[in-house]
Amino acid sequence: MMHQHPLTASAPAKLILCGEHAVVYGCPAIALPLADVRAVATVAAGQQGEGLRLVAPDLNEAWGVHEQPTNPLSELALTVAAQLGLGQADLTITLRSQIPLASGMGSGAAIATALVRTLTQYAGQEWDADRIAALVYASEQRFHGTPSGIDNTVVAHERAIWFERRSPKPLIEPLTIGAPFTLVVGDTGVRSATHLPVGAVRTAWQADPVHYETLFAGVALLVSQARSALAKGDSATLGGLLNQNQALLEQIGVSSPELERLIHAARQAGALGAKLSGAGWGGIMLALAHPTQAATIAAALCEAGAVRVLTTVVG
Ligand code: PMV
Repeated sequence: MMHQHPLTASAPAKLILCGEHAVVYGCPAIALPLADVRAVATVAAGQQGEGLRLVAPDLNEAWGVHEQPTNPLSELALTVAAQLGLGQADLTITLRSQIPLASGMGSGAAIATALVRTLTQYAGQEWDADRIAALVYASEQRFHGTPSGIDNTVVAHERAIWFERRSPKPLIEPLTIGAPFTLVVGDTGVRSATHLPVGAVRTAWQADPVHYETLFAGVALLVSQARSALAKGDSATLGGLLNQNQALLEQIGVSSPELERLIHAARQAGALGAKLSGAGWGGIMLALAHPTQAATIAAALCEAGAVRVLTTVVG
């Protein structure tokens, strides 16, 4: 059944707890949804003859998908509409997001997922998370060439996952979390498009594969240990592993002075561990905190120049 009234669907931001970059090369990584920070898509009937239109009020942009057919969101909307039998429909899809762009929080995947969810709801269909994740993955490839698939997967499944890039299908496992844990996230305010550090890591890996594969193997080992620590609810061990991951990310070449200033401030304020999260060179860092320390760490991050700080309890 097609709906006549505006319909809204949303999708969460995400955090990579550990394993970013190495995950592109087949190593495992752990990712979490951030349920309170979301992208929202609304679909409503448009003007007759206008076809599909996308409106992004936050960016002050609006366009017809046929006017900009190579825009990744246009492509996604056209593909999904065609699969739903809405290819000829006059629809306006409005996209809004609380997720800062290019910050490591998966804004692109969340906006794309919200878009797919709202169109499927409009058409009265229910698609499973794997189907939505696969469509969003194809769209993400347009943004940055070699995505591992972790962002679209955690956003579509909306639960903490263990992820391994594999062919033909990724390995996705739900994670056991033995005891809730608190993360404080600090945003450097430095925007960095994912494909830049991802491309730089590829170039460096091609120049020195042995060295980079040793670093990736170190990441893979600590991600496995992090999974056990999460299952046991062992925050002290998890914190140490996050610090180890940061040291490896620095060697991989994706950290930055702004990230390291926040990471240092969080550790000084009592964090059990802290690291950058996502592609790096800017964007966000995360700190594992005792619940009683979270406010102190958040204040220290603001003091150290974070433009945005949020605290979330996982599990
Ligand atoms: O910064 P984000 O949210 O786009 O995260 C990218 C994660 C990477 O591992 C660096 C790339 C990928 O495709 O997995």
